[in-house]
Amino acid sequence: MRKVIYPGTFDPVTFGHVDIIKRACELFDSVIVTIALNPNKLTPLFTVEERIELLKESLKEFPNVEVDSFDGLTVEYARKVGAVGIIRGLRAVSDFEYEFQMALMNRKLDGDVSTIFLMPHEKYTYLNSSIIRNLASLKSDVSDFVPENVSRALREKFG
Ligand code: COA
Repeated sequence: MRKVIYPGTFDPVTFGHVDIIKRACELFDSVIVTIALNPNKLTPLFTVEERIELLKESLKEFPNVEVDSFDGLTVEYARKVGAVGIIRGLRAVSDFEYEFQMALMNRKLDGDVSTIFLMPHEKYTYLNSSIIRNLASLKSDVSDFVPENVSRALREKFG
């Protein structure tokens, strides 16, 4: 049973994340998509409960996905749930340096947990959650970039 975790902020989940999750689901028996309660991102748009619901609804077609959240170190969470690896997405070369540093630090913290990098489809390389929040706040249609339930939740947030 090969279990991996896919940690992130997911504020909100986009088609770029869903693309990575789909790829992970094809490679591993079980994928836990888990929201890091990231103290560096102080004012998320969606509460953790809202993000969990948005992820669950967006990922219901994948039978081997669970959604969770965690506080503290990613490697400790990975160990607690019995995961062999941490999935991270690489959208562009600009992601590499930060991700490389994080992967090496995580390996130093726990040599048994590997980081696995997956690349989303190139049509999602320019996507991130901040751009989506910004577009939605300006009442722009984001339905090409996020699942329908997320689009709806953004419309409700921004009236
Ligand atoms: N498609 C679209 N957007 C993507 C994406 C993809 N495939 N992959 C990443 N992104 C975007 C995210 O939406 C996010 O956008 P935003 O900053 O505009 O909101 C941005 O890229 C950052 O991605 P995210 O996956 O949320 O990473 P993060 O940098 O916020 O958090 C953690 C990374 C949670 C893995 C890291 O902070 C962590 O491990 N924290 C726990 C504490 C810990 O263990 N620290 C030691 C680490 S060495």
